[in-house]
Amino acid sequence: MGIVFNSTTKTITLHTKNTSYQMKIGNLDYLLHLYYGPSISDADMSYQIMQYDRGFSGNPYESRNARTFSLDAQPQEFSTQQQGDFRTTSIEVVNSDGSYSFHGKVTGHQITDGKYRLDTLPATFQTEKDTASTLEVTLLDAVSNVEVALLYSVFEEADIITRAVRVKNLGSEAIHLKKIMSLCLDFLNGADMDLVSLPGRYGQERQVERQHMTHHIHTIGSVRGSSSHQQNPFLILCGRDATEDYGRCYGFSLMYSGNFLAEAELDQYDQLRLVMGINPKQFVYELKPQEVFEGPEVVMAFTEHGFTGLSHLYHDFYRTNLCASKFVTEVQRPVLINSWEAAFMDFDDVKLVNIAKAAKNMGVDLLVMDDGWFGKRDDDNSGLGDWYVNEDKIKCGLHRLVEQINELDMKFGIWFEPEMVSEDSNLYRTHPEWVMQIPGRHAVRSRNQLALDMSRRDVQDYLIESINSILDDADIYYVKWDINRSLADIWSNELPGERQGEVYHRYILGLYRVMDKIIKTHPDILFEGCSGGGGRYDPGMLHYYPQYWVSDNNNPIDRLKLHYGTSFVYPTCTMGAHISDSGKFIPLETKAVVAMCGTFGYELDATHLNKKQQKICRKQSNLFRKYYHIIFKGDYYRLTNPFEPGNMTAWQHVTKNKKESLISVVVTNLTCNGPQEYIRAKGLLPNALYRVNGTEEVHSGAALMNAGLPIPREVPEYTSFQFHLTKTRE
Ligand code: GLA
Repeated sequence: MGIVFNSTTKTITLHTKNTSYQMKIGNLDYLLHLYYGPSISDADMSYQIMQYDRGFSGNPYESRNARTFSLDAQPQEFSTQQQGDFRTTSIEVVNSDGSYSFHGKVTGHQITDGKYRLDTLPATFQTEKDTASTLEVTLLDAVSNVEVALLYSVFEEADIITRAVRVKNLGSEAIHLKKIMSLCLDFLNGADMDLVSLPGRYGQERQVERQHMTHHIHTIGSVRGSSSHQQNPFLILCGRDATEDYGRCYGFSLMYSGNFLAEAELDQYDQLRLVMGINPKQFVYELKPQEVFEGPEVVMAFTEHGFTGLSHLYHDFYRTNLCASKFVTEVQRPVLINSWEAAFMDFDDVKLVNIAKAAKNMGVDLLVMDDGWFGKRDDDNSGLGDWYVNEDKIKCGLHRLVEQINELDMKFGIWFEPEMVSEDSNLYRTHPEWVMQIPGRHAVRSRNQLALDMSRRDVQDYLIESINSILDDADIYYVKWDINRSLADIWSNELPGERQGEVYHRYILGLYRVMDKIIKTHPDILFEGCSGGGGRYDPGMLHYYPQYWVSDNNNPIDRLKLHYGTSFVYPTCTMGAHISDSGKFIPLETKAVVAMCGTFGYELDATHLNKKQQKICRKQSNLFRKYYHIIFKGDYYRLTNPFEPGNMTAWQHVTKNKKESLISVVVTNLTCNGPQEYIRAKGLLPNALYRVNGTEEVHSGAALMNAGLPIPREVPEYTSFQFHLTKTRE
């Protein structure tokens, strides 16, 4: 059904397979929001809109003494500014005459086939399998001549609706945008809703928090110049009764890697307004006549099947419609070993080759040379920015090093931190004006490094050229793209003082341009994103990189929470997860089970492992390959919540055809003489019979889902289990 305009009721309804979203060109041509939720077919939801005389809520002049019409109480698709609506706004614009106002009224709408495109920002795309259609509604403020285009794309089968916004200055003088939200969603009643978000910190990203809506503005966001470790540009609004498997859940995922903001305001009448977009902090964007500003995309999903239902919608959509890399669909990801925790910056070519040789015995496909290979880089005081090989360390040269790794029948990967510069570097000595530093002030250091001004074309071009030349010099199969600080000293030497409010956003635009250029020229390279772990793990980044390093915290028990939280929106195939030395008392097998909830690899000095340990690793690498299709392409279920008290954490992957499943269990706590515990499976066919780990043990799907599998009790600490279920017959 896609998108339907009813010219009688003036409603526009967006239909996905199971959901509907309705708006109306309402009274006085304001665009009202009517509904988002389970399918309503062709119902007209206008009847819900009630109007009362609400004290202290202003009435637009054109409503002619109609004291009952106030935008303060009407649900809107994009709020006005200074038109009697006192809730948080979609837009704050300073018009050319200095006034702060936007009274947008519908001037037209267009329904087209296919997905809209954004010119400056990453966005999800339509694949051959999708039926997608697009609605564009234009709102115009007739006095200031500011036009806002609201873009919606509907992915019917995927049950996904995306939104974005474009502002165009149709006037004859410059205007200044101080706030522009990509999404505004007004729920007529939100008092019974909870907000779930993914806050965290370095080493503990994307923990899960849930709070009741109360009468104030709940905000999540980042002002660190990146989406950050501290918050993730994702939230869920759900019913108070929503659980993992049941209940109404709305998801909002912003495709932006810089400062973001989401505000959920429960207003005086228990209406709930959600806005989401670029963070207005230190944001003032000048738009000259005819110039256009694009706001990033928000990917929305709704389900009645709880958090699992919502995660499945995002996992399926982000697995196919977010990143065009061939590693998403065609090519299996390699098992890699990364040099960081093996050697930090203390390595040379010989050491790397030795690690690779040992790793070969562990079933590893790819050696990654992490930080320390370039410029003068023996510690984190120097070298960043000098993207050429340090031949004191890599004595044989990069080309020959890669050849040696290839001779082992392994592939080679390399680390970059393109956006950063050390003061002790040739780049900084040559171009001190390329860093972000406020004139007359010393820049804030973080990890002893400064940030390059990514908004500058010359900086972008330097990075594109220097990184491309390394990638072209040798047979590079993989790149890890890191950023290891938050931004401060926001200033670009290329922009005049009055335009410094554009720098945060221009930085991100510059970054996207650099990534786009490098990645498009190297479609055969597997890219992994990283920001001191998972500090910029967002859909904007995942548009370019099919995988992202979850966290620098490799402790498998902490990882249980990290993977759990990350999984609310991001699929397993995006989660960079390795076995490392962290977790001294945890068996290698358990570390492997945890790393298999992700891209699987190693982060240790393979030469330190004895033959027996190497053999265990080889077995685990092979198991990862064996289960790859289940883990990467199947449905993911959280079977327990590691944030709640319990003795084990369990999760499950089930192939789409439900013929195979992998249940993973880690015992996190051994209680003395405790009860027998069972793990109940999900997502199986109730009437089918499943064989457990290829043995004679066979249970029906119904038994596995309703009674569960007994988890052996008398086991050493941190034991783990994998139950590979294969369907035998119906
Ligand atoms: C960050 C990354 C690590 C490693 C170091 C190198 O902290 O998260 O994996 O690459 O940088 O400096």
